[in-house]
Amino acid sequence: MRVLSGIQPSGNLHLGNYFAMIKRMIDYQESSELFCFIANYHALTSVNDPGLLRQKTLDAAMDFLALGLDPKKSYFWVQSDLSEVHELSWLLSNVTSMGLLERSHAYKDKTAKGIVATHGLFAYPVLMAADILLYGSNKVPVGKDQKQHVEIARDIATRFNYTFGETFVIPEADIEIDIATIPGIDGQKMSKSYGNAIEIFSEEKALRQRVMSIKTDSTPVDEPKPIKDNPLFEIYSLFLDETGRETLKERFETPGLRYGDIKKELFGIIWEYFAPYREKRAEYVRNEADVVDILRMGANKTREVAQEYLTKARNNVGLNYTN
Ligand code: TYM
Repeated sequence: MRVLSGIQPSGNLHLGNYFAMIKRMIDYQESSELFCFIANYHALTSVNDPGLLRQKTLDAAMDFLALGLDPKKSYFWVQSDLSEVHELSWLLSNVTSMGLLERSHAYKDKTAKGIVATHGLFAYPVLMAADILLYGSNKVPVGKDQKQHVEIARDIATRFNYTFGETFVIPEADIEIDIATIPGIDGQKMSKSYGNAIEIFSEEKALRQRVMSIKTDSTPVDEPKPIKDNPLFEIYSLFLDETGRETLKERFETPGLRYGDIKKELFGIIWEYFAPYREKRAEYVRNEADVVDILRMGANKTREVAQEYLTKARNNVGLNYTN
C-alpha cells in the first residue's frame, strides 16, 4: 500500500502538524511504501519572501528527519525538485470543472479573509491532486482541513479514468477522528498562520510562554473544570494514552484543580517529549549539506515512480503522437 502526504513550508511546524500527520506518516514507514514531501510550490500561494521560503523548506526537511523519517525506508523529497507534477497538473486541469474548484472551502475562506484570489490559490487543489495521483497513492494521512482537497483529488481521478481509461489509483483520505482538528492556544484550529501555534522545536522560553498562554475559562478553582472545547485538556491529551486521558479527565472534574499548575506540567511534558528529537535536529543543522544530499537522492528515487504514472497519463490522453 502506498501512503502519501505533504506539508507546506510556510511557517514552523507545530503540534497540529505533528500529531495529525508527521507522527502518523513516520509510523506508516514501517508497514507501507511511504511518500512524504515538502510542498514548496503550494507554499508560494502564501509566501512571497524567497529567503524565507528557502529557509523554511530546509527547516521542514530537518524537522522530519529529526523526528524519525528514514529516507532509506521511504520516498522523501521537495516538491519543486520534481516538476513532473506540473505536467500532470495540466492534464488534470482539463477534466476539472470550475464548479468543483469554486466549492473549495479553503479557497472560499481565504478569499473571504481578504487574501487576493490568485489563479494559484484557485488551482491549488488541482496541483494537490497531481501530488497524490502522480505516485499511485492509496492513502493520504491528513487533518480534517485537508479532507475536501483529497475528495477533489478523488473526483478528478475518477473523471480522468472515465474519460481516458483506467490510469490512476483512487486515493482515500486517512483522518484520525480524535485529532482531526487540533486547537491552538486560542481554541481556534492550530495554524502556522494564525499566531496560535505551539511549535515543535520552539526555544524553551518561547515554549513556556506559549503553553502558559493557552486560553482557559474563568471557572473558579473550587469547581469542576469542563473538558469539552477546552484547548488545555485537548492539547495535554495528545501526549497521553487512553488511561492517561481518563486520569486527566478525572483531575479536571475534581474541584481544586488550578489551570496554572496544569500548564506548567504540560510545558514539562512537551519539552521532555521532543528532547531527543531536538538533539538530532541540532546535528542536521550542523550538517546542512547532508540534508541537501538526502533531498536530492530522494527526488531521484521518487522521479522513477512519477515517470511511470506520467507516461501512462501522457499516452492515455494522446500526447505521444508517435505511437
Ligand atoms: P499543511 O501544511 O497546512 O498541514 C500539514 C498537515 O497538518 C495537518 N494540520 C492539522 N491537523 C489537525 N489539526 C490542526 N490544527 C492542523 N493543522 C494542520 C493538515 O491537515 C495536513 O495534513 N495542502 C496541504 C499540503 C499538501 C498535501 C498534498 C497534503 C500539498 N499537497 C498532497 C496531502 C497530499 C497543506 O497545506 O497542509
